[in-house]
Amino acid sequence: MALLEVKDLKVYYPIRGGILGRIVGHVKAVDGVNFTVEERQTVGLIGESGSGKSTIGKAILGLVPLAGGTIHFNGEDITRYIGKNRSAYRKSVQMIFQDVHSSLNAKKRVLDVIAEPIRNFENLTKGEERKRIDELLAIVGLSSDDAAKYPHEFSGGQRQRIGVARAIALKPKLIVADEPVSALDLSIQAQVLNYMKDVQEELGLSYLFISHDLGVVKHMCEYLTIMHNSRFVEVGQREDIYNDPVHIYTRRLITAIPSTDIDLKEENEAKRNALSDEYNREYDNYYKEGGKVYDLRPHGDSKTHFVAMP
Ligand SMILES: Nc1ncnc2c1ncn2[C@@H]1O[C@H](COP(=O)(O)OP(=O)(O)OP(=O)(O)O)[C@@H](O)[C@H]1O
Ligand SMILES: [Mg+2]
Repeated sequence: MALLEVKDLKVYYPIRGGILGRIVGHVKAVDGVNFTVEERQTVGLIGESGSGKSTIGKAILGLVPLAGGTIHFNGEDITRYIGKNRSAYRKSVQMIFQDVHSSLNAKKRVLDVIAEPIRNFENLTKGEERKRIDELLAIVGLSSDDAAKYPHEFSGGQRQRIGVARAIALKPKLIVADEPVSALDLSIQAQVLNYMKDVQEELGLSYLFISHDLGVVKHMCEYLTIMHNSRFVEVGQREDIYNDPVHIYTRRLITAIPSTDIDLKEENEAKRNALSDEYNREYDNYYKEGGKVYDLRPHGDSKTHFVAMP
């Protein structure tokens, strides 16, 4: 049984118009996606800006209303309960937010930032709470003294580790990590990702890891979903996606990964340009009218690799 099973998820944002602010239409931000996350697994959710990635994360956390679909957690249909505060589900699923700067309250000390979820869900004495905070700080490589400081006294990488400590404070089963390292320098990215991996081992966590960059997630994710225009264009095991990408959109994302080999720079540039031409020329073969993505179907006789093709 999967830890999380999402079926035919839809999220439509209302568009308001006129002086009365009446609803005049909808943005179909997520329009029918299916996926599962197994225990201890990291699933990548990859796609360009505006494709609907954060909306999927928010939907799982119950932060936006669903226009359709169901969510099962540990086999139980929790679709109607996800928005409810203080439920067991809301304790088991946490989010690391995309924007490090605004997601940590600048006026609160690190102690209070990390303790907030604990105070919402558990009744610890001050002493017990302090002990828990120190353990959490140690897990993400910060010291006990850091608890008294404010978020602005830390580097970007350290701040993101505070976000990780806060997300794991309630020993969740699943963390939705929304672009957790995108705002960081390359060297710091690796450091934060390593902390996230260590924490995963230690707590037996699953991640839904959101990124626009297939390069970043390569070593994190066992399973990948590639999102475009509010739907999945391709899903598969890491090897399926990196070694045998099929959809033109996935192939473009792969060629966009910067090469570390200087000698290949020109060759890669040429590949990127050729694919870009192919994308423009062949678009109608890969998308329905209006850019709508086809339903996923198995690639050849693969049991793991699916592509949205006619
Ligand atoms: N609160 C909202 N109200 C109306 N439209 C929204 C809202 N939030 C997001 N959208 C729209 O929904 C679509 C998907 O947005 P979403 O934030 O999920 O994209 P994303 O893939 O996370 O992008 P990014 O990589 O830039 O973070 C976009 O077209 C966006 O403009
Ligand atoms: Mg986003």
